[in-house]
Amino acid sequence: MLEIKFEVQNKTIEVEPGVNLREAAIAEKIGIYAHIFKLLNCRGRGLCTTCRVEIVSGEVAPRNDVETKNLAKPLKKNPNLRLACQITVDDNLVVRSHV
Ligand code: FES
Repeated sequence: MLEIKFEVQNKTIEVEPGVNLREAAIAEKIGIYAHIFKLLNCRGRGLCTTCRVEIVSGEVAPRNDVETKNLAKPLKKNPNLRLACQITVDDNLVVRSHV
């Protein structure tokens, strides 16, 4: 089992290796979306960029093409942004969401 600590929500969950970060948060009722985007999001397709997080600690794969393309503008302001829906969890993580 791996641990994911959600810094802003001050919650830690245990997950199996290989789970999707967004789905793990939703399964544990941890809100990673701001405001209305809880309802209005792309359901994990990497298109809406509303599931933005920062990986504070832990190893994750580098940004994929979807993240690189769709986060191009926000990355100019914050180069640490990732999309939770595009991250596979294979390490203990500390995550900062932007809710
Ligand atoms: S849920 Fe839309 S980009 Fe992640």
